Amino acid sequence: MKFFIDTANLEQIKEAQAMGILDGVTTNPSLMAKEGITGAENILQHYKDICELVDGDVSAEVISTDFEGMVKEGEALAALNPQIVVKLPMIADGVKACKYFSDKGIKTNMTLIFSAGQALLAAKAGATYMSPFIGRLDDISTDGLGLIAEIRLIYDNYGFDTQILAASVRHTMHIMDCAKIGADVMTGPLSAIKGLLKHPLTDIGLAKFLADYKKGN
Ligand code: E4P
Repeated sequence: MKFFIDTANLEQIKEAQAMGILDGVTTNPSLMAKEGITGAENILQHYKDICELVDGDVSAEVISTDFEGMVKEGEALAALNPQIVVKLPMIADGVKACKYFSDKGIKTNMTLIFSAGQALLAAKAGATYMSPFIGRLDDISTDGLGLIAEIRLIYDNYGFDTQILAASVRHTMHIMDCAKIGADVMTGPLSAIKGLLKHPLTDIGLAKFLADYKKGN
């Protein structure tokens, strides 16, 4: 399972990269705004900075909602660095743009996926990744993890190569549940990733090992 971090915060990206477990980064316009990154030039520079920090794929989202605009923006984003994955919204023109980029060998991530039907369309359009937002489904009392399981079944039925990128992951258990279901990738906050480290018996055991070592030295 690949681990992506869902942030535009350079310090958090550095920290996750330094842990040695990071496979990539996802961003979206809200995450860029949260870091105060505004204006086309600054946004493009920020994507370049993120690519410098990580070895893996970096999803960069288009703002346009029409096919021509998405192609123009996506081509500019893809030209920044081969690590860039063009992130496209799950709307009709987004699917069309996804097919356009897939045919050109440019990596894509279809975002804002909330149903298995949308997931099927993303795979048909040749998306590299598709992002079902499990946390946002949970927020409206709908089964986000159930959607991941449904998509896994459908993709396996037909051998689709599109990778299931479980997005809107909110906590550590989401990561573990996605791993059990067989999501290819998860993207979430650093806190959810670091939560995997925690177990009281690890802390107690380590404290005892160190105390016993001190007794004999
Ligand atoms: C995915 O690519 C999105 O950036 C993200 O996971 C959305 O998460 P949120 O629902 O916590 O905003």
